[in-house]
Amino acid sequence: MSGILEVTGLHSGYGDLEVLHGVDLSVEKGAIVSVVGANGAGKSTLLGTIAGVVRPTQGSIVIDGVDITGIAAHKVVGHGVALVPEGRKLFPFLSVEDNLRLGAFHKAARSRSKATRDEIYDLFPRLAERRTQMAGSLSGGEQQMCAIGRGMMALPKVLMLDEPSLGLAPIVVEQMFGLISNLASSGLTILLVEQNVADALELSSRASVLEQGQITMTGSGPELLADPGLQSAYLGIA
Ligand SMILES: Nc1ncnc2c1ncn2[C@@H]1O[C@H](COP(=O)(O)OP(=O)(O)OP(=O)(O)O)[C@@H](O)[C@H]1O
Ligand SMILES: [Mg+2]
Repeated sequence: MSGILEVTGLHSGYGDLEVLHGVDLSVEKGAIVSVVGANGAGKSTLLGTIAGVVRPTQGSIVIDGVDITGIAAHKVVGHGVALVPEGRKLFPFLSVEDNLRLGAFHKAARSRSKATRDEIYDLFPRLAERRTQMAGSLSGGEQQMCAIGRGMMALPKVLMLDEPSLGLAPIVVEQMFGLISNLASSGLTILLVEQNVADALELSSRASVLEQGQITMTGSGPELLADPGLQSAYLGIA
């Protein structure tokens, strides 16, 4: 059975620098799949390539049976892939509501944007309370919620989250992972990239380890958590 997102033999990079050297990844509908790895492993490059921001040089990306390899980023969104980028990338001087609205730029999403927005406000009551507040004045956790909400406004088949826990206080990190887990329970498919290996593996049904642009390990979250090699490399367990 093939997944809602299938990445096969993907190579990409920046100019002469090849960062991904043949990455395979399969994401089942309704699952949380995570890609974990150290700084510079190529995690953001992988999500950027799937999102159409970085051009692949080889391999294929298929979403829900449609080959989207090499197409422009705005078209990728129309095919159902939304990226919540590392560092949130909100418009700090626009309100929460305007930031959300910007996520619904393709036609199908725009025509039901008010209904989607209200669903997002139900999921994140703190955003609803702060709908007129400038995004730049939100707390880190609220900014991450707003960025996730903006991604959801595009009505994605797969929502890609790049380091959602980055820069958040430990207790907020825990809340963020709880929230991601709830999103998946509501039926959303999530591709999660994290340096926070233990937390990411705990909530993932499948996970892969990316090292220097190559997948070195794939398994269920619990399988990888129990792997001695992974424990010593990423969890500080000797
Ligand atoms: N725009 C760019 N131009 C040139 N090189 C880049 C660019 N973006 C990333 N790189 C390089 O590609 C490699 C992989 O970077 P990438 O951001 O994908 O790693 P990452 O796994 O997301 O790291 P982190 O955990 O720090 O976010 C690094 O060597 C980086 O310097
Ligand atoms: Mg990154």
